[in-house]
Amino acid sequence: MRCVLITGAAGFIGSHTSLLLLNAGYKLFLLDNFSNSSPISLNRIARLSKLSNNEVKERISIIKGDIRNLSLLERTFLTAKSQGEKITSVIHFAGLKAVGESFEKALDYWETNVGGTLTLLKAMEKNDCRTIVFSSSATVYGQSTQDSLIETDPVSPINPYGATKAAIERMLTNIAGCNSHTTPKQKSPSGWRIACLRYFNPAGAHPSGEIGEDPRNIPNNLFPLINQVGVGRRESLTIFGNDWPTIDGTGIRDYVHVMDIAEGHKAALDMLMLSEPICLILNLGTGKGTSVLELIEIFKLSTGIEIKYKFGPRRMGDSAISLANPKEALKYINWKSKRTLSDICRDGWNWQTSNPKGYDDAYSKD
Ligand SMILES: NC(=O)c1ccc[n+]([C@@H]2O[C@H](COP(=O)([O-])OP(=O)(O)OC[C@H]3O[C@@H](n4cnc5c(N)ncnc54)[C@H](O)[C@@H]3O)[C@@H](O)[C@H]2O)c1
Repeated sequence: MRCVLITGAAGFIGSHTSLLLLNAGYKLFLLDNFSNSSPISLNRIARLSKLSNNEVKERISIIKGDIRNLSLLERTFLTAKSQGEKITSVIHFAGLKAVGESFEKALDYWETNVGGTLTLLKAMEKNDCRTIVFSSSATVYGQSTQDSLIETDPVSPINPYGATKAAIERMLTNIAGCNSHTTPKQKSPSGWRIACLRYFNPAGAHPSGEIGEDPRNIPNNLFPLINQVGVGRRESLTIFGNDWPTIDGTGIRDYVHVMDIAEGHKAALDMLMLSEPICLILNLGTGKGTSVLELIEIFKLSTGIEIKYKFGPRRMGDSAISLANPKEALKYINWKSKRTLSDICRDGWNWQTSNPKGYDDAYSKD
């Protein structure tokens, strides 16, 4: 059985990807310190998978812990061995991800994101596991006003969060023995199999409404904020800037359904497992841009809910446009997004209305 360690598994993208891999027959070691998530998401993955209790016990091991803890990581690899399994790959989601917060807590971001990844890679190498899919981000590109971003575009992040993602990409291309960090596919002379997936704006939720995005603090991303305003958890939405050089002055982003992103991870992992040692750097986006005001309108058309908003100043570290050219992902891992913005709004709203207070809902059945 293919055995995968997933860090940050309880989080937004980690939970959706874990469910997908569970249903595809993988054995999963799910590691999270729950600093920005709830263990309830992992119970729900087990429930949604429709596996029997015994199968769940056999196929899921949950590890509460931190990626900066080397001995914990080593114990995880050993536990797999003691069960007659070998962790042969890692999907690495764990990390801090709020652009604004990364200015105030830059050291924490470097410690968790870069330091944590370094520790993870040491544990992997020691245990002869050299396959990793890493959550990178469109923020590595920095300021953009162009139509779409391609992997060969310059890496020049404009906030500490993006800088940590760019540094991790460099670390990964270095250990792969590759020269470039802007080439979509390179051979790895050192024998690693690596995919850095640069997500644009993941949004939406699993169509069941059982798992979704539930950040612990004020959401950093637009989509959960819209949902929280819609459900009455927040009074109104503040739009950061209406003077950007875009069609209506608000920022343009490339929203991609979280289930499409989950499928991108499976596609990348399956490709790495079959291929010679390589390092992939790929955009995961739709190639379609949507402004904040357009998203509010599409949300209203999809859900019937009107979102109250006001304009505020631009937010430090943001850019006018962030739009993917996703053609390399199609070429190298045969992935493209399938779901629409209406699907994102419908599924995200279904999650939010089924769980108005997220996983902490007092009426939660878990
Ligand atoms: N959601 C986005 O818009 C987006 C866009 C681009 C890239 N990413 C990246 O994708 C990854 C997953 O994002 P997400 O939206 O699911 O975020 P998330 O916060 O929901 O998930 C991250 C998970 O990592 C866990 N975690 C954090 N620090 C940890 C540590 N030191 N040890 C163990 N676990 C830890 C958190 O508890 C959380 O469950 C992150 O690395 C993020 O930077 C996200």
